[in-house]
Amino acid sequence: MNIPHRAGLENFPPYRQGKTPADIDGLKAFKLSSNENPYPPLPSVMEAVAGAVSSINLYPDMAAGDLAAAIAERWQVSPENIALGAGSVEVASQIILAVTNPGEKVMFAWRSFEAYPLLVTTAGATPQPIPLTADGGHDLPAMAAAVTPETRVVFLCNPNNPTGTVLGAAEVDTFIRSVPADVLVVLDEAYVHFNRDADTAVGIDMFRKYPNVAVLHTFSKAYGLAGLRLGYAIASPELATTLRKVAVPFGVTSLAQQAGLASLQAEDELQERIDLLVTERGRVHAALLEAGLPVLPSEANFLWLDSGERTGALAALFEESALSVRVFPDEGIRITIGSPEANDRILDVARHAAALLAPLH
Ligand SMILES: Cc1ncc(COP(=O)(O)O)c(C=O)c1O
Repeated sequence: MNIPHRAGLENFPPYRQGKTPADIDGLKAFKLSSNENPYPPLPSVMEAVAGAVSSINLYPDMAAGDLAAAIAERWQVSPENIALGAGSVEVASQIILAVTNPGEKVMFAWRSFEAYPLLVTTAGATPQPIPLTADGGHDLPAMAAAVTPETRVVFLCNPNNPTGTVLGAAEVDTFIRSVPADVLVVLDEAYVHFNRDADTAVGIDMFRKYPNVAVLHTFSKAYGLAGLRLGYAIASPELATTLRKVAVPFGVTSLAQQAGLASLQAEDELQERIDLLVTERGRVHAALLEAGLPVLPSEANFLWLDSGERTGALAALFEESALSVRVFPDEGIRITIGSPEANDRILDVARHAAALLAPLH
């Protein structure tokens, strides 16, 4: 006899991992579908991980005390404000589990990080997606107006995945003031290190100002530790305590803890790589525009092609060139900024595409 499953999951698609690139003869393949960092781990980080390998027969420090203290110091908050998880996706899940009762609502802009609706539904809560504006940004007035007594959490993704748009400090301030004080506003800053917008909302500033704000950060993107799974929330001590209750026990491995500590000590070195990626983002963005492709400005480590019904044709061209990109059928394509070599390939495809598919606007 089949085991009955929880209602609602039967038609629910699982999280879609970024595709691996096609194997094309004579072409080096590049995976640009998961916003990963193209640079290998720093030697000091690899050394720290290697040093921890000899004790993997033991459970990790569940509180990750040293790492929590280092993160707290980095942001000038108390370790009590830090809750860690196996990637910020797990911390986002902890937040939903900690704050919502079954049926209550979690709001987010849509399209945004693809895991939000999945995490909300698997927690038994109800997703409340609010469409992006025509230029790919959060529609904060619409979001504020859509808050109901059932809305318990609002995720603001800044910069937004996949459109790369930024939320301004003034508009986020107005938004937080306009929602009830018992609604948790989470600033998901997975791509914060790549954000150079002078007017951007800054999660830690909002956290210091408003008790109903939490911030999500990850070591996966700028720090290049996607494979080790490490993320954290900066939250009130009360919320952080509850997040630890719903966390997967021992979810943050000793290897991840050591890598996180070593990365915090190597922030200057990591900054050089971040700067290179930001420079490459500018180069690729300008060249895509020049080629006539409908690319949005981005403050993250990826670019969004607003390609609409041309998406399938364009995606095929990337695939034929051994590039995997994130395709949203009939909507658009998200391309991660990779190494200069990978980025040159994107531009080759773009120029070819512009000639083949013109006009793209
Ligand atoms: C907006 C956003 N938040 C959170 C995450 C989760 O990252 P991780 O679980 O690797 O920390 C991602 C990953 O793509 C993301 O795009």
